[in-house]
Amino acid sequence: MSVDNLNLKGRTIVLGITGSIAAYKSADLCSRLKEAGAIVYPILTDSACRFIQPLTLQILSKNPALTDLWYESEHNHPNHIQIADSADLLLVAPASANCIGLFAQGLAPDLLSTIHLATQAPVLIAPAMNGKMYDHPATQENMKVLRDRNYHFVEPEEGLLACGYVGLGKLAKVETILEKVKDLL
Ligand SMILES: Cc1cc2nc3c(=O)[nH]c(=O)nc-3n(C[C@H](O)[C@H](O)[C@H](O)COP(=O)(O)O)c2cc1C
Repeated sequence: MSVDNLNLKGRTIVLGITGSIAAYKSADLCSRLKEAGAIVYPILTDSACRFIQPLTLQILSKNPALTDLWYESEHNHPNHIQIADSADLLLVAPASANCIGLFAQGLAPDLLSTIHLATQAPVLIAPAMNGKMYDHPATQENMKVLRDRNYHFVEPEEGLLACGYVGLGKLAKVETILEKVKDLL
C-alpha cells in the first residue's frame, strides 16, 4: 500500500511540533494524516509557535491546536491526560534536540513533554536540526536512550540545512514519515 491510499480512519495521532525551522512542514503532515482519516491533535511547544501559527494546525486538523499545559484545563479543552490516553501514536515532527533530551530524561516542563510521559502509545520521532547539533554526543546519547526504550525514529536526511550548512539533520520527507506511521499503525 502506498501512502497515497493510507488508511488511518479512526486512529488518533498526537502530533507534537517543536521549535525548528522545519515546523512549517508539519502543516503538510497534519493535512495528509487528516486526509487519511486520522484524528489529529496538534501540540505545539512555545518555540514551535515562533515558526508556525497554531491556527494553521487547528484549521487543518479540525481540532484545537494546543500549546499550553494550563490553558486547556481552565477552558475545558481535552487535558493532557485525556489526550495522552486517546493516542494511538505520539508523532513528533519536527523533533528538536531539546525535545529529544527532555524525552530521554523524562522531564515534563510543557504540554508536549507531559503528554509524552503520560501516554502508553508508541512514540515516533522525526528529528530536525543543524548537523552539529544532531552529531553532538549528547543528542546521540539521548537518541540511544530512546531507541533502547523501543522508541521509533524517522532518520533525518543529509542536505543543505536552513542554517546554511550541508549535513545530516534535515527533516525526513513527509512521505517517509507517513510510511513509518503506516508501518506502526
Ligand atoms: C531560527 C532558529 C531555528 C532553529 N532550528 C532548530 C532546529 O531545526 N532544530 C533544533 O533542535 N533546534 C532549533 N532551534 C533551537 C530551538 O528552537 C531551541 O532549542 C528551543 O529551546 C527548542 O524548544 P522546544 O523543544 O520546546 O520546541 C532553532 C532556533 C532558532 C532561533
